[in-house]
Amino acid sequence: MNKPLFITLEGVDGAGKTTHIHFIEDYFRTRGLPFYMTREPGGTDLGEKLRLLLLHEEMDALTETMLMFSARCEHIQTIIKPKLAQGITVVSDRFTDATYAYQAGGKGVDARSIDVLKSLVQKDLDPDLTFLFDVPVEISIERLKDTRTMDKFEREEPSFHQTIRNAYLDLAQSFPQRFHVLNGTHAIEAIQDEIKLILDGRLG
Ligand code: TMP
Repeated sequence: MNKPLFITLEGVDGAGKTTHIHFIEDYFRTRGLPFYMTREPGGTDLGEKLRLLLLHEEMDALTETMLMFSARCEHIQTIIKPKLAQGITVVSDRFTDATYAYQAGGKGVDARSIDVLKSLVQKDLDPDLTFLFDVPVEISIERLKDTRTMDKFEREEPSFHQTIRNAYLDLAQSFPQRFHVLNGTHAIEAIQDEIKLILDGRLG
């Protein structure tokens, strides 16, 4: 049995993550590899309730950070760790990199506070692989205009989205072993070929 992977997907709102989630699902399904798709904030009953608050209620940035980690704690304890322990690969649409990008980068929460919460909640758990879907903000904002009702993050000013993008690119530079930056302006098929190549390499 392959060692299960913990894979996370990140990017600014409107980067095209959702399109590729279905491709990743198909990748695992067609190979008969056990996998579990989940998301943050959310992924558990409690987490989904917190998600509604987090995406739609205005709140202090540190409060928001701690609620993100409360949802994450429940997610890790009841879903992520048990699945990995059963040999099931977990693919999460966002994880802690989003907290560094949005709450530290976007909202100015001290990254050291996030480090503390991370070590408390995650202990030694870290993603094995992170796909960062990267697009210039002019494009991501344009794409958001075509979507359903926007949440509070999606409604932020272009400068907020730019800060998030920069924060993600900084994270990718700091953790080059774990991050794979995918150019979201490329054709969908080209991005999917790249994802396939990376997954093939990781899964052997
Ligand atoms: P999404 O599921 O459509 O990507 O929306 C989740 C939103 O929540 C997105 O705007 C990013 C935001 N978010 C944070 O601000 N911090 C976090 O830690 C996470 C997981 C998400």
